[in-house]
Amino acid sequence: MKKKRRNEFRKALRDVKNLPTLPGIVTKLTRMAEDPDTSTEQMGKVIGRDHILTAKLLRLVNSAFYGFPQTISSLNSAIIILGFNVVKSLIISASIFEIMEEQDLELWEHSLGCAVVCNILARRLGVNEPEEISTAGLIHDIGKVAVKMELPREHDRITRMVQDEAISRREAEHKILGLDHAEAGAWLAASWNLPARLVEPIACHHDPRLAKDEQLASSIVHFSDIFIRGLGYCHGDDKWVPPLSSRAWRLLDLSPADIDAMLEEVEEKLWDVKGFSLEIRSEIEGEEEDPG
Ligand SMILES: [Fe+2]
Ligand SMILES: [Fe+2]
Repeated sequence: MKKKRRNEFRKALRDVKNLPTLPGIVTKLTRMAEDPDTSTEQMGKVIGRDHILTAKLLRLVNSAFYGFPQTISSLNSAIIILGFNVVKSLIISASIFEIMEEQDLELWEHSLGCAVVCNILARRLGVNEPEEISTAGLIHDIGKVAVKMELPREHDRITRMVQDEAISRREAEHKILGLDHAEAGAWLAASWNLPARLVEPIACHHDPRLAKDEQLASSIVHFSDIFIRGLGYCHGDDKWVPPLSSRAWRLLDLSPADIDAMLEEVEEKLWDVKGFSLEIRSEIEGEEEDPG
């Protein structure tokens, strides 16, 4: 491939003109979180100003998706019970839910499924703040949305190549663009100022060996992506289940019994979660239309 063309694709994906931006509140919260003097009350005030986001956040917190043991009925208790970092991840998830859902329902289902597996696996492994890993799972393929929106012609060529040559989407992306959606997704996440803890698992979800600081999170997302594909939640004509990285497998240290138990848990949770998106959308839209 000519280097010039490849640089053009890079530039188009880095500029992201056609994708919705994340609400400014996400950047603001990320900045506030870095300042040790910021209080919980200040954060609560910033989030609370956005009523729709607060409603979405509470819906998400209380959904089967996360399965917290108690009902959380206010923003302040969410911050106190879950901690600010978790609330921030949930806000990112709530914002990206919409973008994914609007763009590509099948990809959204795959992503939601991946997030469910990430959550279950992260809890099993006793990882700190498993919700953050669920968020990484939810947005791991966001680069596919970027390719579709920013390079629609190439996106169609990639889709055709996947069908005609029976290769994986990632291979077709490399052939046509000279890069893949993992790389594009990491640029997008960085342009949204998402924390490195989310950016690296997106960048490395097809090859967790590349991860520097987030080996475990990247391996969890990698495994969950493959697991959910194995259950039939693929994307488009790309029916391939990619090979599992042996290093990730060693790091996760799962037994066949663990996998069996996870399968049961995932299937049950997927049923609970499937109708969730529609519920959140219609209710919030209803509230917007009906101010009384
Ligand atoms: Fe992917
Ligand atoms: Fe994926």
